[in-house]
Amino acid sequence: MNFKTVEIKHPKYAKQIKDLFRDTYWAKGRTIEEIKVLIKNSTVCMGVVDDNNILVGFSRSMSDLQFVNCIYDIIIRETYKRRNLGKMLIDGITNNPKLKNVKGHVIYCKNHSVSFYEKLGFEENDTLSLMVLKK
Ligand SMILES: CC(C)(COP(=O)(O)OP(=O)(O)OC[C@H]1O[C@@H](n2cnc3c(N)ncnc32)[C@H](O)[C@@H]1OP(=O)(O)O)[C@@H](O)C(=O)NCCC(=O)NCCS
Repeated sequence: MNFKTVEIKHPKYAKQIKDLFRDTYWAKGRTIEEIKVLIKNSTVCMGVVDDNNILVGFSRSMSDLQFVNCIYDIIIRETYKRRNLGKMLIDGITNNPKLKNVKGHVIYCKNHSVSFYEKLGFEENDTLSLMVLKK
């Protein structure tokens, strides 16, 4: 089986993204309509598809295109983990031509994902805290 990254711009992927989100702790409740809005308003939405064009991974980012790019919602389908697809996804975002001028990429993650991002060259920043104002 071969895999490739595809930039997702079309809402037709919303159903498949919802299926992937079902396996996450943070996005399992998102609706198709919410995901269509997410596709429309994210700076880059990146997928990994198999030979049959089935989505097996997804991530997205939001950026000002100049200073910083924040990466969110990375997920690889359980049975496809540890095949370098997560790395392909993040590389697909960070090397996207739209983001060529940004000075850095940021990911908020739980502790269990830190080693994965370190392998991709990200460094943990112990002087910053994530502050959240809930709505
Ligand atoms: C985290 C996640 C995206 C990694 O995807 P993946 O396709 O399995 O990772 P890759 O195969 O591309 O791994 C790239 C490298 O990171 C390593 N790695 C992957 N997951 C790891 C983990 N949990 N802990 C330590 N190292 C890890 C791999 O061994 C590989 O190292 P190598 O290049 O030395 O062989 C995937 O496990 C996932 O979807 N997790 C559930 C959702 C989640 O937690 N997302 C992150 C929210 S912030």
